[in-house]
Amino acid sequence: MQDPQSQWTAIDNYFAAHLIPPDAALDAALQSATAANLPNIHVAPNQGKLLHLLAQSINATRILEIGTLAAYSTIWLARALPPTGQLITLEANPTHAEIARKNIARANLSHLIQLLEGPALTTLPTLNPPFDLIFIDADKPPLPDYFSWSLKLSHPGTLIIADNVVRRGAILNPDSPDPAVQGVRRLVDLIARSPHVSATTLQTVGPKGHDGLLLARVLTV
Ligand SMILES: C[S@@+](CC[C@H](N)C(=O)[O-])C[C@H]1O[C@@H](n2cnc3c(N)ncnc32)[C@H](O)[C@@H]1O
Repeated sequence: MQDPQSQWTAIDNYFAAHLIPPDAALDAALQSATAANLPNIHVAPNQGKLLHLLAQSINATRILEIGTLAAYSTIWLARALPPTGQLITLEANPTHAEIARKNIARANLSHLIQLLEGPALTTLPTLNPPFDLIFIDADKPPLPDYFSWSLKLSHPGTLIIADNVVRRGAILNPDSPDPAVQGVRRLVDLIARSPHVSATTLQTVGPKGHDGLLLARVLTV
């Protein structure tokens, strides 16, 4: 019997091998990140495909992403857009932004994607609403602020997705000293009180361990 982590990874690899054909641009994005010693905190391939399918399912034409890294999830999401669509992605780290721009160009998606460099709380107020899908995947302490901005940039029906809300179960500890855990817990409290969204979470296991996605559909703005 394998340990749980090895089994989760093997199962993810099994499904990815069958359901996600090799893709030169996505593979190159991951390789460029490894070569530049970027942290391996991209969404897993199965979750990238899930984001892509969700964006297609709601016929998203405008997508906002908070947290680009090497543009791996950005490429998955942008490929769900029609030729006239737009994806805006926000990245604070100049090195990440430079690598992401190269990966976006290599994927032939520069015409659809605008990368705004700078802290998200600085660039968010410059954006024009509405977006159809908002993927929140940056630093966790400001999650409630990112959610409030997302609501301002939404229309009824917008899908807001936040990654890493389970944190290997650390989310259960109300006294956690981890600011990321506290950021997620404040986000959950905020959403629980909000009449503006209907939300749920999906726990995930795989190469990135035990984590989860929060999905919120905007009802009213
Ligand atoms: C988890 S990674 C994003 C992964 C990417 N979405 C993917 O799945 O391929 C988080 C990114 O958010 C960026 N980031 C962290 N704090 C930020 C902030 N305040 N504003 C904008 N970007 C930030 C980090 O530099 C990092 O590149």
